[in-house]
Amino acid sequence: MGDFEVNSFYELIIHDLVNQGYATVDCFFTEEEIDLLRANLFVKQELQTFKKAAIGQASSEQIIEEVRGDFILWMDEHALDEVEKMYFQRMNEFIVYVNRTCFLGIKEGEFHYANYPVGTRYQRHLDVFHKDTRRTLSVVLYLNDKDWTPANGGELVLFVPDEKGNEREEIVYTLPGRLVIFDSKTIEHEVRMVHKPRYSITGWLKTR
Ligand code: OGA
Ligand code: MN
Repeated sequence: MGDFEVNSFYELIIHDLVNQGYATVDCFFTEEEIDLLRANLFVKQELQTFKKAAIGQASSEQIIEEVRGDFILWMDEHALDEVEKMYFQRMNEFIVYVNRTCFLGIKEGEFHYANYPVGTRYQRHLDVFHKDTRRTLSVVLYLNDKDWTPANGGELVLFVPDEKGNEREEIVYTLPGRLVIFDSKTIEHEVRMVHKPRYSITGWLKTR
């Protein structure tokens, strides 16, 4: 894809981000790419240990099962495999576009695989840390089973503020291939109780 070629769905993402603080898109990756990413996640799970995810940052990191139950593995930007390179390529193309249209000043992305076992969730939270506010856009790509249904739980709930100071709950079903992008600084969110193992790549587009 040429640097200046405009993806029509990029326009929709930007429109929704600007107007409501979040966007969901099902065609960011092709079905073949989703199959590759999902298969790759399972290879990683065989070869490397996913670590129990913590909350907080650096010295204030804590593991509180009740708050957050997922297991994660960070992608190493300096040791990407071919499939991960494809993922980064797509994200970098989007970063170029979002910087050009929204002047967000995104400099880099950080991404991890995530696996929520049955019976886990992630309670309502915001993705920015107190002492590090570089996270600008949160990006979650779901890699669940093809036959995933709402009965499997694990919905992402976005608490979307409105002008009147009220908030609305936007429920996102984590269908395979679905990508959700939201404002890391303003959109609180939660992952509801999971009834079937739930897989994703979660990441953040960050300023310097
Ligand atoms: C997170 C998070 C949402 C999701 O990892 O911070 O909120 O749908 N994930 O997995
Ligand atoms: Mn989050």
